[in-house]
Amino acid sequence: MAIEKSFFGNINENIPIDLYKITNGSGASVMLQTLGAGIQSLCVPDRNGVLADVVLGFDNPQDYTNPDYGYQGLTVGRWANRIRDGKFTFEGEEYHTPQNQGTWTLHGGGRFSFTPWEVAETGENYIVFSRFSPDGEDGFPGNFTMRVKYTLTEDNTLRIEYSILSDKDTVANPTNHAYFNLSGDSSKTVEGHYLMINADYFTETDADQLPTGELGAVKGTMMDFTEPHPIGDNIDVPFRAIIDGVGYDNNYCLRTQNGEFALAAVLEDKESGRKLEVYTDLPGIQLYTGGWLSRDYTVGKGDNKVTFRRGAALETQFYPDTVNFPQFPSRYVKANEEFKTVTEFRFSAE
Ligand code: BGC
Repeated sequence: MAIEKSFFGNINENIPIDLYKITNGSGASVMLQTLGAGIQSLCVPDRNGVLADVVLGFDNPQDYTNPDYGYQGLTVGRWANRIRDGKFTFEGEEYHTPQNQGTWTLHGGGRFSFTPWEVAETGENYIVFSRFSPDGEDGFPGNFTMRVKYTLTEDNTLRIEYSILSDKDTVANPTNHAYFNLSGDSSKTVEGHYLMINADYFTETDADQLPTGELGAVKGTMMDFTEPHPIGDNIDVPFRAIIDGVGYDNNYCLRTQNGEFALAAVLEDKESGRKLEVYTDLPGIQLYTGGWLSRDYTVGKGDNKVTFRRGAALETQFYPDTVNFPQFPSRYVKANEEFKTVTEFRFSAE
């Protein structure tokens, strides 16, 4: 095990971004960047031991800051996914958050993703990033410090531990926005990847993909991933919770709802044999198959361009807009009490 630091590049002309690479005994590695405490690359073996980078991303850090490029690998805070009208009431007070997409807040306004984080600690197989957000920043209550610890284990698990401290009761919904393409060749879409999601329900959404508060049953619909099957099987089947032509961009309600750490999803590329199991203690997971990415984008890592359906994001989370739906499962941050959540990406090959 070893961790190595290098300079990635500047954003906005003079803000330096660093990379930290953790390599385990078998050669698997993860590259983490200070920008958005993000995953820049993740190299894991196929069934023949051949390593390939299984996350999409860019060679130039500036590209990560373009919201149209989809928050590749970045940490999202304070609140992942959408908040209707950029507005919510919490403990009797109304709060207003950035309407950075349409009329809603997307990914907390983007600040946690598009700014550099501090490095609080490093060890042989881990790194801890930290970001302080003052009371009222982007409308959210509380002087708020978020820490993200990434650990790469000897058995090819990337463990992500989020820890939050605030001086006021507040809301939080941290996630990571990596897009996986287990073939390591992003000239291939993820439509051929097999997917299982441990969920019988999804959150129903309106024409802007904002939750309505209802849950829909997956059974008998194109949303059903209770049994593993290729993502592309039904991706273009018209469905009320899907925007035509985009494909999956939906929150699934995991069977485990009580904070228990459990299997949420399994993604598999039968050709290379690479398999990813996602574990979390959160109640939801956003399946987003990159349907808003343009077919014409020309940036990426080397020849691997970030384009339409080239990766699947599996974003563990509280349901989108939970702050406006008391019926959704929630757990908020208590003043001066550490709030924790953990997600693991476990890689193997078959
Ligand atoms: C959202 C998508 C969005 C993507 C990139 C996902 O979490 O649900 O609508 O395009 O993030 O920002």
